Amino acid sequence: MKDQAQNLRDIIKKKNKEPKRTCSAKVIAITSGKGGVGKTNVALNLAIDFINRGKKTLILDADLGLANIEVLLGIVPKYNLSDVIYGKKIITDIITIGPNEVKFISGGSGIRELTSLTETQIKTFAQNLNLLDKMVDIIIIDTGAGISDTVMTFLGFADEVLLVTTPEPTAITDAYALLKVFSDKIKKGDINVKLVINKVKDENEGQKIFEKIKKVADKFLNIKVEDLGYLPNDECLEKSVRSQEAVIIKYPKSEITIALKKLAEKILNIKTDKSNAKGLKMFIELVKNKINIIKDL
Ligand SMILES: Nc1ncnc2c1ncn2[C@@H]1O[C@H](COP(=O)(O)OP(=O)(O)OP(=O)(O)O)[C@@H](O)[C@H]1O
Ligand SMILES: [Mg+2]
Repeated sequence: MKDQAQNLRDIIKKKNKEPKRTCSAKVIAITSGKGGVGKTNVALNLAIDFINRGKKTLILDADLGLANIEVLLGIVPKYNLSDVIYGKKIITDIITIGPNEVKFISGGSGIRELTSLTETQIKTFAQNLNLLDKMVDIIIIDTGAGISDTVMTFLGFADEVLLVTTPEPTAITDAYALLKVFSDKIKKGDINVKLVINKVKDENEGQKIFEKIKKVADKFLNIKVEDLGYLPNDECLEKSVRSQEAVIIKYPKSEITIALKKLAEKILNIKTDKSNAKGLKMFIELVKNKINIIKDL
């Protein structure tokens, strides 16, 4: 008799055999070196804005073990990504729908053992991600902070990597550390990292920080960094977190909402090069060729 995991593998295999579609969902990873710089809020509010603009969007909370999105929304999902990674569920069965029809997949809480995924777990996840690709236009991955192998793996799935930092020197140093580790894992010039500088006093401060990071990256790293935008320090965001609502809904006219909407528009205008279809279908090749994670396992 087949075990449950085998049944799930069969379902995935069958679903992936459905009429071929080129990999069209845009996968955006939101990451940071230091924790607490605003990734989850950026992910949530961008998702809601994308949905309001008619794009089917899903947030994947890949900060395994530390509940994020669900806390911002005050929801307790039944299943989480670890159920998928351990082969107990398929990803389409664990989608939670929150306010404004925002779809998300919980990263779970209290499971910290997944700081490094095995080859089988990466493969299972890649196959599952492929199922999502057929359902949505945009997948936002909130990677969690830091430079672990798991974070690097999730960055490997992305078409666009958004690196969030704040003006604090510790956040900038950690952003630089992440760039360094990521650039060591990818081929030269293969991906651009887009910087989002959060909690700035004004544009000028944002610009200065961007120049500083870019200068170091140009000089020492095999990675291009681009300036995607600056988000103001705005107490409306803190208030919205406390009331477990997205700031762009709770405070639609606030400075932070205006900046987040501008950021969303910029992201939608990025022409993603799908010719080397990252993530999804070609993921295993990608992992082997581009990111040296498997050999580290
Ligand atoms: N633009 C901003 N203005 C004011 N406060 C902000 C802003 N961005 C973030 N914050 C504050 O920082 C806190 C952390 O934000 P968030 O949870 O989005 O960070 P994170 O990077 O996802 O954290 P973690 O690494 O723990 O997952 C928020 O609860 C809020 O209080
Ligand atoms: Mg977070």
